[in-house]
Amino acid sequence: MAFFYSTYRTILFVMNTSIKKLAVYTSGGDAPGMNAAIRSVVRSSIEQNIEVIGIFRGYLGMVDGDMTSLQTSSVANILQRGGTILKSGRSKEFLRPEVRKIAFEHLQKAAIDALVCIGGDGSLRGAIAMHREFGIPVVGVPGTIDNDIAGTDFTVGFDTAVNTALEAIDRIRDTAASHNRLFIVEVMGRDSGFIATWVGLAGGAEEVFIPENPTSVDQAIQRIQRGMARGKTSSILIAAEGQKPGRAYDLAENIRKKAGFEAKVCILGHIQRGGHPTAADRVLASQLGSAAIRVLLQGQKDVMVGVQNQKVVYEPLENCLNQKKLVHQNLLSLIDTLSK
Ligand code: F6P
Repeated sequence: MAFFYSTYRTILFVMNTSIKKLAVYTSGGDAPGMNAAIRSVVRSSIEQNIEVIGIFRGYLGMVDGDMTSLQTSSVANILQRGGTILKSGRSKEFLRPEVRKIAFEHLQKAAIDALVCIGGDGSLRGAIAMHREFGIPVVGVPGTIDNDIAGTDFTVGFDTAVNTALEAIDRIRDTAASHNRLFIVEVMGRDSGFIATWVGLAGGAEEVFIPENPTSVDQAIQRIQRGMARGKTSSILIAAEGQKPGRAYDLAENIRKKAGFEAKVCILGHIQRGGHPTAADRVLASQLGSAAIRVLLQGQKDVMVGVQNQKVVYEPLENCLNQKKLVHQNLLSLIDTLSK
């Protein structure tokens, strides 16, 4: 179920004004544009006379009661900054109900009526648990460079990460061409191949290795040989990191053993998480931060805001997290077609 922006405008007349104070936090891997989302949440809330508390370090800070009051001026000059002024964190402890209870007690003590969680899959699961166990309304803003959240076409940070990786790949192409070399560039994406697919297509790669699609080394070798047969002297393969960084070295070794090609490896790593957010990410984050406040005021209690077909929408958080968002097969086929 998805409601478009025009729908909430009418629903605004039945605003749930019981929300006086909300808390916003960023959680999981940081993503460029998170600051823009925080700014939007804070300023949209203040406009509706809602007080805003910022929780530091995601769930780590929620459990420690590490929070501060945010004003309009607290979020000045952050729109263009990468990272997150609220800091972020990953908390295994938060998987335990008794730890979540401690977090809720801190929220109660601070008289917080609702939560806005800016983060990826694991972070949004934490938000659902808080709603289910304590009834507190939660809204998710999808923020992760991985773009692996269903219910939204794009997550905050993805566009910037793709452009950062692409800039690196363009540079690698220069040196690859100068030396007639094969490169394997490893990009982020533990469980998801969105970054790899987009930079593979935009960067003119021969092949992408992504967690969702078992690509064989043999196929990659065939594509390299196909290029060589038509006079190509350098090639780039893109690999999503998979469960741990460094997978590209195994691929290089496999290719060397099977075909005798020496490949240079370049792991882009956390470079992709930093830097100024692109215009697209700033706009998306600003739209979603504001939409989060509007849906809370409509009385929604466990939804995620997102963008679908260029419209701002919301859907139950559970639906978003229970679906697997798939990399478009047509992009993968296009990579093959265009690298011929
Ligand atoms: O936030 C998503 C992500 O950047 C993934 O692409 C990557 O696999 C993972 O986080 C790395 O996490 P960490 O920074 O905790 O090593």
